[in-house]
Amino acid sequence: MRIVVIGGAGYIGSHVTRCLLDAGHSVTVFDNLSSGLRENLFPEAQFVHGDICHPLELREVFARPSASDDRPAQAVVHLAAAKAAGESMTNPEKYSTTNLVGTINVLNAMAAVGVGRIVFSSSAAVYGEPSYLPLDELHPTDPINYYGFTKLEIERILTWYDRLRSVRFAALRYFNAAGYDPEGRVRGLEQNPANLLPIIMEVAVGIRGELEIFGDDYETPDGTCVRDYVHVTDLAEGHLAALRWIDENDSSLTVNLGSGAGASVAEMVETARTVTGKAIPARVAGRRPGDPAELVATAETAGRVLGWSAAHSSAEELLSTSWRAYREAYGRARES
Ligand code: UFG
Repeated sequence: MRIVVIGGAGYIGSHVTRCLLDAGHSVTVFDNLSSGLRENLFPEAQFVHGDICHPLELREVFARPSASDDRPAQAVVHLAAAKAAGESMTNPEKYSTTNLVGTINVLNAMAAVGVGRIVFSSSAAVYGEPSYLPLDELHPTDPINYYGFTKLEIERILTWYDRLRSVRFAALRYFNAAGYDPEGRVRGLEQNPANLLPIIMEVAVGIRGELEIFGDDYETPDGTCVRDYVHVTDLAEGHLAALRWIDENDSSLTVNLGSGAGASVAEMVETARTVTGKAIPARVAGRRPGDPAELVATAETAGRVLGWSAAHSSAEELLSTSWRAYREAYGRARES
């Protein structure tokens, strides 16, 4: 299939691109490189430097994804978004423009050119505070931050474009994406990370002095928050399975992609110490506003419908693949 991956130079996007290329698809990465990295581009994929806020650029890349091939794209994977929940509460305009307007531009360009399939990066943030666990897709959606609201609104808009413009979609509700390509082929590290695992890694390589643990007085077994960490390679496989499913069923779906298992912050730090052999100093700080005590998915639907499972999402594999990426990147930096 000829697929345009919007945001394909980013952390999750580069893993998705790698997976689609490995499966034999023809991939064009469309990215404005605001957070994506050139070093995440693969030579086998075309690259178009462009922005979802420029509708004409979208139409052009959908109509002619490759310089050597005049045929339009057959599918879009759309990962480009602003994703910091805290920032979305202080700068909602950025989230309105990038996540809402940008995605509407994507859908309008798809409708104009006649591209009929999209895989959309949604988020567990659509659920808000859990009223029961594990979270299934029927759990009420009531986001507690503007970021989650933008993802939910797009899910709703997708159902209308499905109905009115026959755009079939898969909305994938990611839980906590983590880890790096087990074969070490994705080398770009996220800049200024706000998530737990990259921060632990920055402490392990010594560019951060210590980890702050945001609260140890939650109602969880060890008092620290529990999350469902899912390996980015598993997420990437989920996109491939979703595209296949849309193609075979000419239909749309919304599914969780999580490992189905919870791990606490303290457990992740302990495993990181074992995997890296580093002390990883950590200090308990106050709670971070907006953090639910526990978020864990059931991925039963993805298993049953897509035949998907999280094969790489043990804490050991999440941390060992991350450690390889960080050790190699900082090793390279020291040598140069
Ligand atoms: N944490 C720390 N110290 C840090 C960073 C994080 O203790 O320096 C803790 C957080 O308090 C939380 C856990 O580690 O308990 C995970 O935090 P992250 O910031 O890594 O991830 P979140 O669970 O807040 O959110 C992530 C994505 C969201 C997505 C959500 C889905 O960033 O976009 O997972 O579960 F919606």
